[in-house]
Amino acid sequence: MNEQQRKEQNILQSDDEAKNLKRIQELSSDDLISHYFQTTYEPTAPSLKEAKKRGKSETEVHYDFTIPEDIQGIGARKKFQIRTYGCQMNEHDTEVMAGILTEMGYESTTDQHEADIILLNTCAIRENAENKVFGELGHLKSLKRENPGLLLGVCGCMSQEEAVVNRIKQKHPFVDLVFGTHNIHRLPQLVKEALFSKEMVLEVWSKEGDIIENLPRVRKGKIKGWVNIMYGCDKFCTYCIVPYTRGKERSRVPHDIIQEVRAMAAEGYKEITLLGQNVNAYGKDLDYEYSLGDLMDELRKIDIPRIRFTTSHPRDFDERLIEVLSKGGNMLDHIHLPVQSGSTEVLKRMSRKYTRERYLDLVQQIREAMPNATLTTDIIVGFPNETEEQFEETMTLVEEVGFEAAYTFIYSKREGTPAANMEDNVPMDVKKARLKRLNELVNRQSKEAMAKYEGEVVDVLVEGVSKNNDEVLAGYTARNKVVNFKGPKTAIGQIVQVKIQESKTWSLNGEMVETIEVK
Ligand code: 5AD
Ligand code: SF4
Repeated sequence: MNEQQRKEQNILQSDDEAKNLKRIQELSSDDLISHYFQTTYEPTAPSLKEAKKRGKSETEVHYDFTIPEDIQGIGARKKFQIRTYGCQMNEHDTEVMAGILTEMGYESTTDQHEADIILLNTCAIRENAENKVFGELGHLKSLKRENPGLLLGVCGCMSQEEAVVNRIKQKHPFVDLVFGTHNIHRLPQLVKEALFSKEMVLEVWSKEGDIIENLPRVRKGKIKGWVNIMYGCDKFCTYCIVPYTRGKERSRVPHDIIQEVRAMAAEGYKEITLLGQNVNAYGKDLDYEYSLGDLMDELRKIDIPRIRFTTSHPRDFDERLIEVLSKGGNMLDHIHLPVQSGSTEVLKRMSRKYTRERYLDLVQQIREAMPNATLTTDIIVGFPNETEEQFEETMTLVEEVGFEAAYTFIYSKREGTPAANMEDNVPMDVKKARLKRLNELVNRQSKEAMAKYEGEVVDVLVEGVSKNNDEVLAGYTARNKVVNFKGPKTAIGQIVQVKIQESKTWSLNGEMVETIEVK
């Protein structure tokens, strides 16, 4: 570095310091503690009421994550296990927590008996997801008895709910650590505190709206990877707990996302999925005009064969995005577009902010621009007071759109959401019967769509060997169909051509025709 460069760097550094100082002064004058950087721990309990508020405050992006010196190496010769429940966002968070624990010296293990830390990364979307976790805590009690030194933590969406935290305190007091979705970057401090504290360590911030960049990360695989593009949700669908557990919508700046995707392309990743609770709202909170379509248009130029995104909201799905997706290349012919219900009246009570007609118009627009696109969806049956006619409207919509797959759910009451206060006159057996009918229809449509592939040659990104037979390889087509086929193990991690010989309801069987990678 020459004298001039050194001078420039000093100026840059002092500029940064000055900005930092100003920010800290502003924060303290605002009576806000800059807890992002505090090294100590103060107990904080969750509040869904607080989490509901959406202020006007700007999103701050923090690039300065570090593990304090006294905590580095705290995990040497120790092992961790993280059990992940729920959606891809949780999988993504698990990768970050694994990264942080690894930097603290811990090693990962799949054997609970040799783990020194077990974290349950939980999901709150439906009651059965929560029940699974409480069941698991029951099992872990005996493990904790056998190994009192085991540090047991609960994190993820459930820890953002005060009812859950109260239940853990009362019925599972052997849990050592509870922390929220906004506190992941505080894991080093929290683990240290939990190791030395006799009390349960509880840190759940309810109203955070910031972004922490540069967190370490241990990605699960080397073929497909997730890239978060935004956090939180402001849609407040009346049945959904996510806006409360994940905070306000905040977009990562395009540059940070593009850099991350470029780095993954350089590392040889073949597919990335852009993640967000409502990815179509991407960019709305940035200071300049920039949308998911603009971001996809940039990412399209990166040398990575497949780019997906999830999850979409029909309300914000715009023409710009459709135009970019229709350009093909690494933009794929598969759109997951949760509809939730086919009845305008139910959609209104769900506060989805679109009608059946508007959804169908959007599908038409997509079909015109992308004639080969596969559409899949999410549907809730048995929303409070859903009538038989309203359910029939969901059935006809499923047929009209021709969804090739759907995640279908019975409505689950979530305390703290507006729908939890709605009267519900639909008995559970009626809800179950509706779900069964809907699933039969979806299965039929999936089977029909699969049958069309017989005799076709498709590009498959090979992910590994099949679970039941290690002679058989398994992977996904661009339209997200599972394909099982015979082929050499060297094909793993490649995109290869497979001739489909047989179709089933949810998968295809075939034979590899060549090993040449297709982009
Ligand atoms: N009950 C049932 N299903 C729900 N989902 C979200 N909240 C609930 C709930 N309270 C479903 C929606 C969403 C998917 C991720 O989970 O269909 O798209
Ligand atoms: Fe929940 Fe609706 Fe936000 Fe999706 S868009 S996370 S369903 S509130």
